[in-house]
Amino acid sequence: MDNAKLILGDQEYEFPVIKGSEDEVGIDFTKLRSRTGAISFDPGYGNTGACTSEITYIDGENGILRYRGYPIEQIAESASFVEVCYLLIYGHLPDEKELTNFQNQLTRHTLIHEDMKKFFEGYPPATHPMAIMSAMLVSLSAFYPESDDPDIINLNIIRLLAKAKTLAAFAYKKSIGQPYIYPRNDLSYTGDFLHMMFAVPPEPYHVSPVLEKALNLLLILHADHEQNCSTSTVRMVGSSQANLFASIGAGVCALWGPLHGGANQAVIDMLEMIRKDGGDYKKYMGLAKDKESGFRLMGFGHRVYKNFDPRATILKETAKSVLNELGVHDPLLEIAQELENIALSDDYFVQRNLYPNVDFYSGIIYRAMGIPTNMFTVIFALGRLPGWIAQWKEMREDPSTRINRPRQIYTGATARDYVPVQKR
Ligand code: COA
Repeated sequence: MDNAKLILGDQEYEFPVIKGSEDEVGIDFTKLRSRTGAISFDPGYGNTGACTSEITYIDGENGILRYRGYPIEQIAESASFVEVCYLLIYGHLPDEKELTNFQNQLTRHTLIHEDMKKFFEGYPPATHPMAIMSAMLVSLSAFYPESDDPDIINLNIIRLLAKAKTLAAFAYKKSIGQPYIYPRNDLSYTGDFLHMMFAVPPEPYHVSPVLEKALNLLLILHADHEQNCSTSTVRMVGSSQANLFASIGAGVCALWGPLHGGANQAVIDMLEMIRKDGGDYKKYMGLAKDKESGFRLMGFGHRVYKNFDPRATILKETAKSVLNELGVHDPLLEIAQELENIALSDDYFVQRNLYPNVDFYSGIIYRAMGIPTNMFTVIFALGRLPGWIAQWKEMREDPSTRINRPRQIYTGATARDYVPVQKR
């Protein structure tokens, strides 16, 4: 199967077929318009491959997710988030020397320019930390201008990974009116973030190994997910040759929405609403099935996974063990489990292949860790950073990259004459 045939009107055309390393098949329509005058129409891009990529493989029918070929289950079991960053960005697992060097670099670049602290001061206290986070990431470009030199690009990648957690923790401290906590070089990536989030001077802060391990897992599970909404945004913005910080800042904005990364916050809001309403989850199942209600079961459904989301499977078990280890009893976990049980046997959800996704249980873990709801999506963004960076880098290094510019089918008014306002 090297070619695909298309019949349009009385003409027949052949288009090349491309195959991925896992036998995924695509029809190469690069020349569709120039040869036929027609475009492909695919709102929501559900059938459109916008690039080839060597980073992440998903088989949605079979619940498979692999980073650079490594199954997510193995990575989640044994790797550190820093190792996963290296793997995604540079394409191979680091050896000991590479890992130590990378870790050292991430530790040495955690401070933000003191002038950036002034930026935080201008925001009203109730500002959503995602607004601050996206603005701060783009603002890094003011301090670290872009260059075509690969060494500078690489340094900016390190700066971005190292400083993002400082910016995220500062955004949180600003929102609760506490002093900013500076990074510590003796802590791990995740330990340092927890310290900057939760230390309150003059009390010493000890990083809990349970929290550190849970955060490591959460970040790993969010690290990449091929061409989703925010990653495509990063590639879209980056395709105009906008700098790394601007492209990633745009990705953070795309992630914010409740249909994407914002779903983790929306899940907790939904579970809380059900709890306050007496825990009547059957009523909400009814609403979710009623199209008129406008209510969706947040944390359910996925564009790609049509069987199960392997990240959700891992997180469901983690939620139970983290709550156990921390001695936290959360009634929302019970409501979540009940909702899942009902949904998995309900025709509406079964027929539409709607299963819990990564956001369904992650929020319950964040809550148990003491992370406030409005920081959930910020932590998702921290986890997704290496994926966005890897995808941006892959796109920039691919000589065939063109500026992303979809077409449209125009359905507006046909040509008509302008009428001066007095005569309308
Ligand atoms: N609750 C109730 N019904 C849902 C649903 C949900 N969470 N998700 C999808 N559906 C229904 C749709 O109404 C539609 O029904 P129809 O065929 O009768 O019209 C069908 O399932 C397909 O949904 P659609 O919106 O076309 O799928 P999509 O691929 O465009 O959207 C999501 C995928 C993730 C945006 C969608 O499932 C959703 O909104 N989920 C909740 C938000 C969420 O958890 N997002 C995080 C994703 S990781």
